Amino acid sequence: MTKLAANTIEVDAKWRSRHPTAPHLAGLDEFQSLYQDSIHNPSQFWAKQARELLSFDRDFHTTTSGSFHRGDAAWFLGGQLNACFNCVDRHAIQDPNRVGIIYEPDDPANDCRSITYGELLAEICQLAGFLRSQGVKKGDIVTIYMPMIPEAAIAVLACTRIGAVHSVVFAGFSAGALRDRIQDAKSTVIITTDEGRRGGKTISTKVVVDEAVRENHKISTVLVYERTGGQIPWMDGRDFRWKEEIQKYPAYISPEGMDSEDPLFLLYTSGSTGKPKGLLHTHAGYLLGASVTGKYVFDLNPQDRFFCSGDIGWITGHTYVVYAPLLLGSTTVMFEGTPTYPNHTRLWDVLEKHQATHFYGAPTSFRVLKALVDKADVENHDLSKLRALGSVGEPIAPEIWKWYHSFMGDGNACVTDTYWQTETGSHIIAAYTGVTPMKPGSASFPCFGIDVAILDPTTGEELQGNSVEGVLAVKKPWPSMARTIRGNHDRYLESYFNTYNGYYFTGDGAYRDADGYYWIRGRVDDVINVSGHRLSTSEIESALVEHESVAEAAIIGVPDDLTGQAVNTVVSLKSKQAAMNIEKELILQIRKVIGPFAAPKRVIILPDLPKTRSGKTVRRILRKALSGDTEFGDTSTLADPSVIDELTKILQKAD
Ligand code: WTA
Repeated sequence: MTKLAANTIEVDAKWRSRHPTAPHLAGLDEFQSLYQDSIHNPSQFWAKQARELLSFDRDFHTTTSGSFHRGDAAWFLGGQLNACFNCVDRHAIQDPNRVGIIYEPDDPANDCRSITYGELLAEICQLAGFLRSQGVKKGDIVTIYMPMIPEAAIAVLACTRIGAVHSVVFAGFSAGALRDRIQDAKSTVIITTDEGRRGGKTISTKVVVDEAVRENHKISTVLVYERTGGQIPWMDGRDFRWKEEIQKYPAYISPEGMDSEDPLFLLYTSGSTGKPKGLLHTHAGYLLGASVTGKYVFDLNPQDRFFCSGDIGWITGHTYVVYAPLLLGSTTVMFEGTPTYPNHTRLWDVLEKHQATHFYGAPTSFRVLKALVDKADVENHDLSKLRALGSVGEPIAPEIWKWYHSFMGDGNACVTDTYWQTETGSHIIAAYTGVTPMKPGSASFPCFGIDVAILDPTTGEELQGNSVEGVLAVKKPWPSMARTIRGNHDRYLESYFNTYNGYYFTGDGAYRDADGYYWIRGRVDDVINVSGHRLSTSEIESALVEHESVAEAAIIGVPDDLTGQAVNTVVSLKSKQAAMNIEKELILQIRKVIGPFAAPKRVIILPDLPKTRSGKTVRRILRKALSGDTEFGDTSTLADPSVIDELTKILQKAD
C-alpha cells in the first residue's frame, strides 16, 4: 500500500459507494503502477491506450518517433482515423438515442435542448455537405466565431468530418483580432451566428465578422446560424443561412480518413512576444490525450453528464466541452450564460437541473461566487450525482479550493485541480478523481506519460528530489502536444525547446513539495493571466502604441483578489498636452484591437517610463510599485529616477 502524505484529504469511502458503476482506477496503487509503466514503456503504454480508446480505420505501425530537439515528435504513424467518427458515429451506431449535448441557454426561462448522438450525426453530415459545396477540402482551415451553443460543436465536428482544420476564435475577440486570425489561417469560409446572448446581453457576432472580413476579398462564404433572429447586415452571395442551407444536404456522408499526424485544429494563443501563435494540433495524439485524461483524470463514463463552463474559444472548451466527453460517449452540457445571471446560484441551478456528474470551472468564478453565495442559497439543491469538481486556468488558493469542495459538492465530490496549456492539448498535472488523496491548492501529480522536471531557472539543471522550486518542464514528447506554430516552426522551437536544451519549457514556475505534490506558481514569462484568460503583455503594448497619442507603453500584471491578475497600463504620451479622457480612450483602444476581456483595470500616464540608461524599461520597479510595494530596490541604474517619484505621487493620490 502506498503511504498517504500528510495534510491530504482522503477520498471518502462513500464516494465509491455512490459511484453508479465502478471507478476506472481501483486506487492510488493502480494509478502509480500505470504511471510508472507509462514512463518506462511509453510505446507499449500509449499503443494499448490508443487501440482501446480510439477507433482507427487503419491500424498504426509505429507508436512514436521524433524528438523535442528537432520539434518533430509524431505519434501512431501509419494509422488512419476520423475525429468525427470517433466522437459521434461510434455512439450513434450503438445507441442513437443517447444524448450527446444538452444545451442550457443564457436565459433559464428559454427551453433547453437535448441533442442525441443520432441527431448530432445527421446535422454534422448536413453541415459538412454544405462546407464541401462551398469548396472546403481536406486541409483547408475554416474559422469559427460562435458563442457557446451546440452549433459551435457541430461546426467543429463538421470540419473534422471532411478533414478540414477548424480554427475557433473566442467570440469575445474584437474584429481586429479576428481579422488577424482569419488572415493568418487563410480561411475563405467563416461560420458564425447572427448574434449571441450572454449574461442577459446581446453579442453582435455577425457585425464583428463583417468588420473583420471587410476588405478581405478571399472570403467566399459566411455561414450564419440564426441564434436570435435579430436584424443583421447581409451580403447576398457571400452570406448563407445555416437552417436553410443544411436541409439541402444528406443526413449521412462518409467520414474522411485522416492520417494520425494530419492537422486537426489550429488555436491561437498569446505568447510572451509578438503576434498570437497559431498552435497546431494533430489527430490521433490529441484525441488520445483528450480520451485518456477524460477517462482517468475525471473518471468519466458514458452514463455521465459533464458540465464544463469553459468557452469553446479556448483550449478547455475544445478538449473538455467537445472532444473528451464525446469521445467517451458521455453527455456534454453546453452552457451559454454566465455564473451570475440571472442570479448567483445559476451554476447550482444548472447542475441540479441536468443532474450533472461533473463540473469543471475556473478559480476566477469561484472567487466571485464565494463573495456572493451563502450556504443557505445552495444547500437546497440536489447535487447528489456530482462526483468530480475540476478546476483549471490558474492556481486555486487553498481557501478557494475548500470553499469549492464544500459549497459545490457539499464535501461529497472530489476536487481535481488540472494543470495544462493550449500547447499540451490535455491535462499534464492533475489530481485523479477518486484516486489521489487531495491537497487543497496543489495540482498534485503528473498525468500518465508526462515526465516532468523542475529546473533551476538560471542553470537549467534538473532539480532532483522533493521540496524543490524552479521552472516547470517536460522531459519527453507526449501524444497530445502541439506539433508546430502555423507558418513558423522556428518560433515553435524557440518558444518551447530552446530555452532549456532537451526539455519542453512550460513558462510556469512550480514547487514540488516534500510529498512529491506539485504546486503551480504561475507564469515566469511575459504572459499574464486575467480571469483564466491568457494575455500577452507585448500584444497589449503594441495595441496601445498604435494609438496616435502614445509614445511608449508597459503592461504589468498585478495581483488581484477577483481576477487573479489584473492588467495595469503605464504609458507615456507623445505630447505633454494630453487629450481629455485619454485613459478612457486607451481602454477603448485595447477593447477594439484585442477585445473587452483584455481591458486594463488601471491606466497611469507618466512623463516617461522608468528606464535604464541604455533605454530598457525597468518592469521590476513598475511591478513592485503597482502591487503596493514601496521598496523598489536599486533605482540607481535608472536614467531618470524622478519618474519614480512621479509614479509614487500618482499612486498615493489614487489611494
Ligand atoms: C495557467 C488553459 C495553475 C498556466 C488550460 C498555464 C494554471 C496557462 C492551471 C495556460 C492550473 C492553467 N494551475 N495555473 N490548474 N491551468 N494554468 O493555454 O499559467 O489558456 O501556463 O490553457 O494557464 O493557459 P491556456
